[in-house]
Amino acid sequence: MCLLAALAWRSLAAAQGLACDACHGSPGPGRVAAPLCQSCHTGTALRNSGRIRFRSAMDESGKPRQAADATFGVPLNLRYAQATGHGGLKCVTCHGEPHQQPHARVLADCAPCHQKVDTIEGGPHGLHPLGEQWIAAHGLAVDEAGAAACRKCHGTDERGTVLSRAQAERRFQTRYGEKRFARGTPIGCYSCHAGPSPA
Ligand code: HEC
Ligand code: HEC
Ligand code: HEC
Ligand code: HEC
Ligand code: HEC
Ligand code: HEC
Repeated sequence: MCLLAALAWRSLAAAQGLACDACHGSPGPGRVAAPLCQSCHTGTALRNSGRIRFRSAMDESGKPRQAADATFGVPLNLRYAQATGHGGLKCVTCHGEPHQQPHARVLADCAPCHQKVDTIEGGPHGLHPLGEQWIAAHGLAVDEAGAAACRKCHGTDERGTVLSRAQAERRFQTRYGEKRFARGTPIGCYSCHAGPSPA
């Protein structure tokens, strides 16, 4: 990155809240050239290194944080630019370059790549299909496998976490009436059901 671009980007990044040092560490011997996503994205709601997301890649000792869970990680010995995930696709296909703003976009909808997907957790990072198809199918998945697997993203209290945010404006017609979610709203089981078990 050229110096001017780096400077312009630096002020943008600072305004957004993640400065160079948050990912690369302070200039000096501990500086990390190629930070790993999992130093901040340390796992799921059921297994993580203290939080699902941290705002600094370094732990208290100033070293890159070890992730308790590899769900959102770059595989060992690879760099982000080369690594692949779901369907053998490069991470960059769905998340873009680490230096864009915000630092990672998400390609969440299955439809651009699949006509129809029949799976419970075969999507990226264990995600299920989205929309009407999943609304009709998820009850059976829970009846068969239990709700424990859902808590990875919908939270130990099933009220939603940063891992179950609506990725776009959503509007569903359900037997509980019309349900609308603004982009970014954490979706939990209680968003539609009266409690963790359907009433
Ligand atoms: C959200 C985290 C994040 C932030 C913030 C960030 N970077 Fe990076 N940066 C990365 C990642 C991840 C890589 C490595 C990509 C790879 O391994 O393919 C990288 C790579 C680089 C590289 C290439 C290093 C090499 O040896 O190939 C440079 C230079 C760099 N960043 C500079 C900066 C500067 C300057 C800033 C602040 C203006 C910054 N970065 C902010 C995550 C970040
Ligand atoms: C310095 C810690 C840090 C590093 C390193 C980091 N992230 Fe993040 N990431 C965050 C935080 C904090 C948020 C939440 C941002 C907010 O709430 O403003 C986030 C949000 C995200 C989101 C959600 C964006 C959205 O629209 O909801 C994605 C996807 C993401 N990061 C992917 C990545 C990828 C891919 C990498 C590796 C290239 C990475 N992150 C590296 C801290 C980090
Ligand atoms: C087919 C698209 C796709 C590919 C390929 C992909 N991801 Fe993701 N990624 C997603 C989706 C969708 C989410 C949102 C999941 C959620 O919020 O539950 C996500 C979320 C993330 C997050 C953010 C977790 C958080 O805190 O919100 C990180 C970090 C991440 N992915 C890293 C990676 C890495 C590293 C790779 C490559 C090894 C990769 N992803 C490959 C689609 C993809
Ligand atoms: C950017 C494109 C992309 C997105 C977005 C995407 N996938 Fe995939 N997916 C692929 C590719 C490529 C493969 C590998 C296909 C193959 O091996 O034939 C794959 C494979 C799969 C498989 C393995 C079984 C099969 O059909 O081959 C499942 C299940 C799956 N995806 C589910 C999902 C779900 C659910 C979503 C949305 C939450 C999703 N995918 C989003 C590209 C994508
Ligand atoms: C967007 C609204 C919505 C959300 C969010 C939601 N559900 Fe449902 N749920 C429904 C609807 C509608 C049905 C009935 C679907 C059908 O039969 O077509 C249903 C059915 C069920 C059933 C089948 C039993 C029954 O009464 O039909 C179970 C079990 C269930 N949901 C559990 C869950 C769990 C666990 C979560 C959270 C991880 C969750 N649901 C999140 C709307 C929702
Ligand atoms: C890997 C993370 C992850 C897991 C595991 C997960 N969910 Fe979700 N769930 C999400 C995300 C992200 C959304 C919001 C997607 C959107 O609308 O953009 C969501 C949305 C939903 C919705 C609303 C429909 C929709 O398209 O938004 C229902 C219903 C639901 N989940 C039920 C479940 C059930 C039941 C389980 C367990 C069998 C489960 N989820 C497991 C991440 C997850």
